[in-house]
Amino acid sequence: MKSFLKPGITAGLVCFFLSAAAQKDMRTLIRNNEVFAANQYKLLMKNTPPDKMPQNYDPAKDKLVASGTAWWTSGFYPGTLWLIYKATKDPEILTEAKKRLVQEAPMQYYTGNHDIGFMIFCSFGNAYAITKDPHYKEVILTAAETATKRYRQGMKAIQSWNKSKKFNAPVIIDNMMNLELLEWASRNGGSKLLAEIAENHANTTLKNHFRPDGSSYHAVDYDTATGAVLKKVTHQGYADESAWARGQAWALYGYTMMYRFTKKPEYLAQAHKIAAFILDHPNLPEDKVPYWDFNAPDIPNAPRDVSAAAVMASALLELAQYSNPKQKASYRTSAATMIRSMATTYRSQPGGSKGFILTRSVGNLPGRSEVNVSLSYADYYFMEALDRYKRWVLK
Ligand code: GLY
Repeated sequence: MKSFLKPGITAGLVCFFLSAAAQKDMRTLIRNNEVFAANQYKLLMKNTPPDKMPQNYDPAKDKLVASGTAWWTSGFYPGTLWLIYKATKDPEILTEAKKRLVQEAPMQYYTGNHDIGFMIFCSFGNAYAITKDPHYKEVILTAAETATKRYRQGMKAIQSWNKSKKFNAPVIIDNMMNLELLEWASRNGGSKLLAEIAENHANTTLKNHFRPDGSSYHAVDYDTATGAVLKKVTHQGYADESAWARGQAWALYGYTMMYRFTKKPEYLAQAHKIAAFILDHPNLPEDKVPYWDFNAPDIPNAPRDVSAAAVMASALLELAQYSNPKQKASYRTSAATMIRSMATTYRSQPGGSKGFILTRSVGNLPGRSEVNVSLSYADYYFMEALDRYKRWVLK
């Protein structure tokens, strides 16, 4: 039978229906994973001591490790609860989410290292976005002021860790993530200086942390008085000159987020460059869940780092928002592949992993710590990626 439609129109319709089917497929996947996450976190709730926060689950030891709130990951558990509540409106999750904020609140004064942004913005930031409770905002504004105590004028950067045998005044690429606290606070009742500090830090990092190919060093050590670079090394990566996967993910997320607030083209350009490094890398596997380090010597037998994929997926979805149609489609497709991989190959068994959502992340392989485990921040950025996909791609 002769078709009524011209070939171009037919192709367009097929394309439309395919993409409508793909959208339906993603909608279902996201919904299933939100429900799965709520069930898992009800289990994690029961397995976590009331005075600790869940940190990791090691399947080799069948052991859940929970930390005190001074550990850098403490805000992810409350943050993930808020993201699950946002998706499911489950009252049991809400009760736990509120309770855990009370426990996290003293961290608004924490000056032991740079991690206050992770601790407070991932927890209270989500809580405030959902509830608009002014008390939560106050905590965020106080935490932003606290973060400035580690700003070193001579370096024009926030010092990540304290002086040690190995470092004088190190700044690690992870620290880009703490700038969201400062930028948000500055635009929501806090002082202008907060944003100035964040942008100085981002500029210093832009100047000193990156290689010509767009990859990032993990740690840059500084002279606090002059801002001179003393050395560029790794702490959690394979080698000083290698590309530690989660470091690349923090960099991608960090510069994308900084562009959101500032609209500075140099931040957007850097984010695209980092995305190209990651997505075009010959060692990025087909399922787009990176090995723990892009230069790990035992690839393809090296452990994957699901936490890096979760951060990358969430960041790529935001970068797509600031991209031309071709880049947008490419970033969204890569993010969707990461999400699908995490939701299938790397997801916990129902009722497994003591309640964590995902498996197979790497915390610190050279330190022989947290290799092939569930990590609280992998769950957090996975839930954030689902939320972003739903809001920005499915609409
Ligand atoms: N310091 C954060 C991380 O391990 O990625």
